[in-house]
Amino acid sequence: MTEVRFLVLGSAAGGGLPQWNCNCRNCAAARDPSCSLLPQTQSSLAVSVDGDNWALFNASPDLRQQIQQTPDLHPRALRHSPIRSVVLTNADVDHIAGLLTLREKQPFDLFTTKAVGSVLEENPVFRVLDPAHVARRTIQLDATFSPLDGLEVRIFAVPGKVALFMEQEDPELAAEGEQTIGIELICGDRRVYYIPGCAALPDTLADRLRGADLLFFDGTVFTDDEMIQAGTGIKTGRRMGHMPISGGDGSLAALGSLDIGRTVYVHINNTNPIWLAGPERRAVEAAGVEVAYDGMEISLA
Ligand code: MLT
Ligand code: MN
Ligand code: ZN
Repeated sequence: MTEVRFLVLGSAAGGGLPQWNCNCRNCAAARDPSCSLLPQTQSSLAVSVDGDNWALFNASPDLRQQIQQTPDLHPRALRHSPIRSVVLTNADVDHIAGLLTLREKQPFDLFTTKAVGSVLEENPVFRVLDPAHVARRTIQLDATFSPLDGLEVRIFAVPGKVALFMEQEDPELAAEGEQTIGIELICGDRRVYYIPGCAALPDTLADRLRGADLLFFDGTVFTDDEMIQAGTGIKTGRRMGHMPISGGDGSLAALGSLDIGRTVYVHINNTNPIWLAGPERRAVEAAGVEVAYDGMEISLA
């Protein structure tokens, strides 16, 4: 089988690390050149089966910088891009704003559920992606499709909510539908999952993930009320559609029993203490779970 490469373009959640208007402990550390914590860009994963053609899973507001930092994604001709396709897992700003970077008449395929596609349709700024060049393809839950030659992907609903900017009064916080999806990458007899946003881990989802070879999972907050405690916000993780890492009903405990080969937290909020060495980071690592960083690469042969 060919080698499949997974490249974390951006490990941070919306806002990135540091966030432009935040001076919390982590953001201050990421601005301090004497501190080993490096700045991290917003949530995206690139995947290739041949090293020449790449699919992006989510298009972050930092995409221009991410391409610049990633020689594999540089053009190889006067006008060219190795990016063949973009797949969106939801319509949050940190996952769609990078589409605006991909204007300039470059062909690629854009795969979304119908619900996420209609958010793009309703926002006329996305018309910068000229349909003469960018094919919008609607994907169905629980069906497979190929964002790249040689790569088969299945999408499925995970608990989540509509994008923040689409919220009306009292949004459903852990709805299972087309607004928030997980990605299954079928690599020969290996199964890899990319789930950067997930509000809960019901048994159906746990059963799906059981025995996976590799999982990239929502590591937004360590504790549900972390932003409130840090004084940086009034929302819990769950109110934002993200289950916490810690606690009896957190992801670390739930994933620990699923016999997953390698688990990596992604979409990590700038308030999350796992960015720095400390008890929270140690708890994650002691459970055998990794913390993503920009440029992290994992290959499956
Ligand atoms: C989230 O993951 O909760 C969103 O990225 C929040 C946002 O849109 O700022
Ligand atoms: Mn996000
Ligand atoms: Zn901060």
